[in-house]
Amino acid sequence: MRRILALALTSAAICAAQQGAQPGTSGPTFNKDVLPIFQRRCQVCHRPGEIGQMPLMTYEGSRPWAKAIKAAVVAKKMPPWFADPRYGHFRDERILSDLEIRTISAWVDAGAPEGDAKDKPKPLPWPEGWNIRADEIFQMTEPYAVPAEYALAYVYIVIPTGFVRDTWVTAAEIRPGNRAAVHHALAVIRPPGSTWMREAKPFVPYIPPANSTDASAQATPDAKDPRADPSAFDYELLTAYAPGAQAERFDGDHSAKLIPAGSDIVLQMHYTPYGKKVLPDQTRLAMEMAAQPPQKRFMSAVMNNANWTIPPGDPNYEGHGRLTFGEPVELVFLQPHMHFRGKDMTVRLVYPATKDGPGKTETLLSVPHYDFNWQTIYYLKEPLNLPPGTKVDVTAHWDNSANNPANPDPTKTVRWGDQSWDEMLSLPMGVIIDRY
Ligand code: HEC
Repeated sequence: MRRILALALTSAAICAAQQGAQPGTSGPTFNKDVLPIFQRRCQVCHRPGEIGQMPLMTYEGSRPWAKAIKAAVVAKKMPPWFADPRYGHFRDERILSDLEIRTISAWVDAGAPEGDAKDKPKPLPWPEGWNIRADEIFQMTEPYAVPAEYALAYVYIVIPTGFVRDTWVTAAEIRPGNRAAVHHALAVIRPPGSTWMREAKPFVPYIPPANSTDASAQATPDAKDPRADPSAFDYELLTAYAPGAQAERFDGDHSAKLIPAGSDIVLQMHYTPYGKKVLPDQTRLAMEMAAQPPQKRFMSAVMNNANWTIPPGDPNYEGHGRLTFGEPVELVFLQPHMHFRGKDMTVRLVYPATKDGPGKTETLLSVPHYDFNWQTIYYLKEPLNLPPGTKVDVTAHWDNSANNPANPDPTKTVRWGDQSWDEMLSLPMGVIIDRY
């Protein structure tokens, strides 16, 4: 009797297994296995209104792209992420696990089955519009007619804040009006008395005359400490937009960004016309106000070095830059910045010497294949406390050879400049410092 029961159970189990093995139900399905991955890893960009052209929200929207999706994830082109995983730990690392890659591949290889509707996860509640509490919104008064045909200089738009007292903001977000045309945008705080961009009239799009030196190019090999006399700062980055970037928060719960009374916001717009009729752009900026003045100040520090000349055709020209923090800081983020010829960048920390010997050196971030199209901001998992005297040491390479498909002209000698066909060696950073 026992045996018979056991046998019956076994055959029931076999039967169930056979059912499971029927085509279309054994391997991964879209609803059960793939959609959850898209929600976690792809929809931040691939949803309506965001930069990834095809929304990966539904089976119908994803199925036609199955082959391209497999190719992109296997080649690790998607999701876009450029930091070498051996160094540093960052927030929201856009990296698929091997299992996730195998799941997507197996799903595509099996003919991209949809699966059972009841396996479908609940849609994620993506915020419509602003990702922060938009207490104040500033915008270009007129849509800017982006020319279709030629590469464009940076366009600056001065927006007076009207703030009559010093104002602390806990978050800021830039939303381009036309995401397809905005390559990147910066919102810069210009305190009263600053001479930067003084030729620009409020709200009137302004293109500085060619060859004028952008103030950011006044770089020194050992750039300024963010704790240097704040009155010496002509301007400070508020926040940046680049494809895939999220709203920026300044409140590690105890810090906020200062916008001095009477400041202007200067938008720096970098448009990339793409050769057909381009819709105009009207970019907006939102700020979330701090309920009270914070304990600490969130500031932008930037390491810029302009003292180099890249020879024509050089496939691996090396550049260096260094910044020394004179006071304790909490380091929050790093954003390696070069242009079309940028090849790689490595950021090391050199701690100050102690009585026991020289300070240790640590690789904080390595971007082995820099891609100008992705101005990725790398937020450290936790802000990193650095003692005074810590040096940020940057090594970068450019490829000015004809083998670099992005190189606009390998026969040119290349120097620091605003335009994509010039170069930069720049490392904007977010730091938290004591208020003074
Ligand atoms: C940070 C934003 C972002 C994320 C996250 C992202 N994509 Fe993309 N994706 C883009 C953009 C923008 C493009 C347009 C092409 C480009 O600029 O590289 C693109 C293009 C693609 C393409 C077109 C083919 C190609 O290789 O150019 C595929 C397929 C794709 N993405 C799949 C995915 C999948 C699958 C995920 C998640 C596993 C994902 N993407 C995550 C932004 C993103």
